[in-house]
Amino acid sequence: MRSTIGKTVAAFAVLASSVSFAHAGDVEVLHWWTSGGEAAALNVLKQDLEKQGIGWQDMPVAGGGGTQAMTVLRARVTSGNAPTAVQMLGFDITDWAKEGALANLNDVASAEGWDDVVPGALQKFSKYDGQWVAAPVNVHSTNWVWANKAILDELGIAQPTTWDELVAAMQAVKDAGKVAVAHGGQAWQDATVFDAVAMATGGPEFYQKAFIDLDPDTLGSDTMKEAFDRMAVIRSFVDDNFSGRDWNLASAMVINGEAAFQFMGDWAKGEFLNAGKAPGEDFLCFRFPGTQDQVTFNSDQFALFKQGDTPSDEQAALAKAIMSPTFQSAFNVVKGSVPARVDVPDADFDACGKQGMKDLAAASSSGNLFGSMAHGHANPASIKNAMYDVITAHFNGEYDSETAVSELVSAVELAQ
Ligand code: BGC
Repeated sequence: MRSTIGKTVAAFAVLASSVSFAHAGDVEVLHWWTSGGEAAALNVLKQDLEKQGIGWQDMPVAGGGGTQAMTVLRARVTSGNAPTAVQMLGFDITDWAKEGALANLNDVASAEGWDDVVPGALQKFSKYDGQWVAAPVNVHSTNWVWANKAILDELGIAQPTTWDELVAAMQAVKDAGKVAVAHGGQAWQDATVFDAVAMATGGPEFYQKAFIDLDPDTLGSDTMKEAFDRMAVIRSFVDDNFSGRDWNLASAMVINGEAAFQFMGDWAKGEFLNAGKAPGEDFLCFRFPGTQDQVTFNSDQFALFKQGDTPSDEQAALAKAIMSPTFQSAFNVVKGSVPARVDVPDADFDACGKQGMKDLAAASSSGNLFGSMAHGHANPASIKNAMYDVITAHFNGEYDSETAVSELVSAVELAQ
């Protein structure tokens, strides 16, 4: 008798370790928003839901760009224990939708009129086979520079607008004994810089052909070699301790006046704001020199894993809350991103946010809006990761630019 109870308890313990106990009325949210600025933005969402009586079960998986989060997600789904809601990027949403894993959000989307307010570039990922499968919470873009204003003022450096001006500015900072570029040596961060550098080097048509169309000639072109050469130049302005550094610690170097520039998506602004810094006074935000007219974007969306034939009440409430215009303003003001709907006023946004909204609208209407290679909006994860490997090997000096170009061509071919 005793041993039967013992076995039952043991079996229950095993079950308990593999099953999450989200209560009815709770949502369990898997995400990678673990930095100070990201957590502040996440709180806006948590509080919004709490007001509606929906509890929050946090499932944070650190790692910018979400690679680790996606690995944990796969393990959770494989063990039959999918979280209720998951932060996801671009082609990852499509991949999960293809597997039939995502809840259909058409009812809430049509009741709330999402079709009319979400830009087509985002709908491409929010919908699969004509059905809504994710709710976009923001639009980020990767081709930004974050600069310490005091350092620039002290050294008489004007905001660089071309590659040559940027190189001269980095050199002046280095000569003054400061770190020119704050960077973290992690594959997704290297790729984020490459997004901007490749766009600046080759322009929009090159970016489209190389990263979105995967044209082998463009991937293997002299222009691609030049982009890699420029990455090597940037590498020479990064400090020796960059390896493995988290992106928010790189932001902190600019915030603290240790470094002049960070090339990073606009989630970096969340770190500056969280540290009490103001745009235009303490820091500057501007487009990576040579990409003033382009936007390489990524959008965080929440995909809801199927729990039955229709989304649960909590899932529907979460989706509705995420898409509310007042929430989109409040959240994105803190996150550094801009709203995922076109009808949200820019009144509450700071100068960088206002510029982000203006740039997005302009790039969208002039055909200069492109999905970010580094953040899963140009190609599925298999191809993205193949590109990451080459970009990082080159950044770390394992490949020269010529080798990187030919490795890129073959890695992309193999990954397809
Ligand atoms: C996400 C951002 C996030 C950043 C760093 C990006 O992929 O879109 O929301 O802040 O990674 O973690």
